[in-house]
Amino acid sequence: MTEPKRYLITSALPYANGPKHIGHLAGAYLPADIYVRYLRAQKKDVVYVCGSDEHGAAITIQAMKENTTPRAIVDKYHAMLKSNMADLGISFDIYHRTSEPIHHETAREFFTYLNDNGDLEVKETEQYFDEEANTFLADRYIVGTCPVCGNENAYGDQCERCGTSLSPEELINPRSTLSGNAPIKKATKHWYLPLNRHEDFLRQWILTDHKDDWKANVLGQCKSWLDAGLMPRAVTRDLDWGIALPQNVEGGKGKVLYVWFDAPIGYISATKQWALDNDKDWKPYWYNEDTKLVHFIGKDNIVFHAIIFPVMLKLHGNVLPDNVPSNEFMNLEGDKMSTSRGWSIEMDDYINDFVKKENGGDQMVDALRYYLTAIAPETKDSEFTWKGFQDAVKGELVDVFGNFVNRAFVLMHKLCKGKVPPLHAALLDETDKALLEEIAQTKVTISGLLETYKFRDAQYEVIDLARKGNKYMQEKQPWIVAKSLETNPAGQQLIDNCLHICLQLTANLAVYINPFLPHAAKKMCYMMKVVDKMLDWSNAGKPNLLSVGYSLREPQLLFRKIEDSEVTEQVEKLKIKSEKIKMEKENKEAAEKVSAAETAAAGEVTETKKPEINFEDFAKIDLKVGTIIAAEKVAKADKLLKLEVDLGVEVRTIVSGIAMHFDPSAIVGKQVTVVTNLAPRKMRGIESNGMILMAEDADGKLKFVNPDEAVKNGSGVS
Ligand code: MF3
Ligand code: ZN
Repeated sequence: MTEPKRYLITSALPYANGPKHIGHLAGAYLPADIYVRYLRAQKKDVVYVCGSDEHGAAITIQAMKENTTPRAIVDKYHAMLKSNMADLGISFDIYHRTSEPIHHETAREFFTYLNDNGDLEVKETEQYFDEEANTFLADRYIVGTCPVCGNENAYGDQCERCGTSLSPEELINPRSTLSGNAPIKKATKHWYLPLNRHEDFLRQWILTDHKDDWKANVLGQCKSWLDAGLMPRAVTRDLDWGIALPQNVEGGKGKVLYVWFDAPIGYISATKQWALDNDKDWKPYWYNEDTKLVHFIGKDNIVFHAIIFPVMLKLHGNVLPDNVPSNEFMNLEGDKMSTSRGWSIEMDDYINDFVKKENGGDQMVDALRYYLTAIAPETKDSEFTWKGFQDAVKGELVDVFGNFVNRAFVLMHKLCKGKVPPLHAALLDETDKALLEEIAQTKVTISGLLETYKFRDAQYEVIDLARKGNKYMQEKQPWIVAKSLETNPAGQQLIDNCLHICLQLTANLAVYINPFLPHAAKKMCYMMKVVDKMLDWSNAGKPNLLSVGYSLREPQLLFRKIEDSEVTEQVEKLKIKSEKIKMEKENKEAAEKVSAAETAAAGEVTETKKPEINFEDFAKIDLKVGTIIAAEKVAKADKLLKLEVDLGVEVRTIVSGIAMHFDPSAIVGKQVTVVTNLAPRKMRGIESNGMILMAEDADGKLKFVNPDEAVKNGSGVS
């Protein structure tokens, strides 16, 4: 495209359903932030928008898990995400949210526009329905076996293991997330976006027009979608959390827009809100062809931003994205990053453990930004390790960049009276000239890399320039020259030249590092006593950013080392966190199995015969009568009750899988027979010390096995 007049940069709206990890940061936020800072440094007209994605099953299911309302979930996590991003220096012009009225209006208007133009299709189809929960099951409300990779817990919209995008119909053995039941089919009406009508346009626009500037991974995914044949996609859902269809739409009652229809429109409503807040006009950003729109996204968002949303934008008369840069995945310590498995570093945790610490602060923000960009999975998956983090910070930031800046300042104070020394042009040698040339050339290199979204390589160039500075200093050895000044006073001019160049290089390093590590750049400006304006990209490559004779401050520490103990601590923490989550999951499964087994065992008495045993076998079982003195439901476990049973000499806690059969308050005071010498087992984190005997009658109802008249608690049964 010709030189754009304005830039609109977006980062994928994160679901406000939980904390987000540093893999997300590295994927859609940090690269966008670097790009935006680079544009701002050029004084471009740029707006950077983002916000929380607050609709869809991701939110409602989390609300069920946390036993609260969707509203409470989005409020809690929106606040967390907003402050996390700010703490990590992600410089959105606005961080909006899709639950705002302005977004609801914008999304409804968009839907109406398409619907009125005949760009949507309405169809009645049979869809999966959960009779117990009385809801249709789409997206994350339905799970089953992935037809591609066999993952037994694939969602109705996507398999998170292999990334395949799915529809509920494709799942093998589908079951409801709500009840666990197998669903039935029921007719319902929905609105569809007929992607198939736009295949020719998409082929031309993606595979021809953008074949050279979009990343290979993005083009690859688009091509396989196009080759598989596009189909109409439903853009509405039968749910009660989301954006209600416009009232005048016939048959739209009780239906909401599909979250993936409304969320990307969030980029537009965020721009509108930003314009309102800043007294600007939002329209040119979304309607004028000379806008450059770039969506930074994670890998699993590619089809939505490269195929579906562009079709919507085109139909609605908006600009299309110029690019949709997306990375591959970042793994962690040898495994896939995953919040649900506890194998992740949450942004919130990093901030608490490093940034908000006495020896932390902004430099630890920059340290993380540095490493995430240095290992950005731009072309293939990469891996975050705490040791790698420590090595990169020490080897590149401390020893190369920080060390160069520090030496330049220390030597300037020692050998040049704390001022920028003059340049004696006649004395410049090849080494001096070569470095000055490097300083200028780096601008071209870095610009080229940033404009093609190669952030990792661009950042490498900055460090490499500092490395050249160190090498230069090592060759010039001004501290050696200083030793013989008495016999060779002309040596001062060589010292001046060396430090003059080193200081101009330092100023340039600040300009170059600014998009990546804004806090370090700011600190360098403070040391050089220059205003932030010096960081303008127009200054990059210039050999005269600091004036001769200008006195500079003492150097400050730009980066600190990561201690071995911090590495060990974090690796331990990761292991403990994931173990804990694994245990909880296993306990839950075990509890479900136990309750199933208990129910089955009770039923088996009448139906099957067990093998014969002798008296010794029977005598091993210690049976006692006790009284239930307290009963309550176990949180997040449908089938479990936690009972306190008085056994005369002691009161035991027993977890029993009978919650479906008894109301806890109704069984307090009842006598029961307890197997008291069963090995204790943990269920849902509660240790259960015994098992209650139950009888099951033909229709599956459970009854307690107890003496026909009350006996003393603790009485033996034989
Ligand atoms: N919330 C989605 C996710 O986390 C991303 C939405 S991006 C948007 O995968 F374009 F829809 F906003
Ligand atoms: Zn799969």
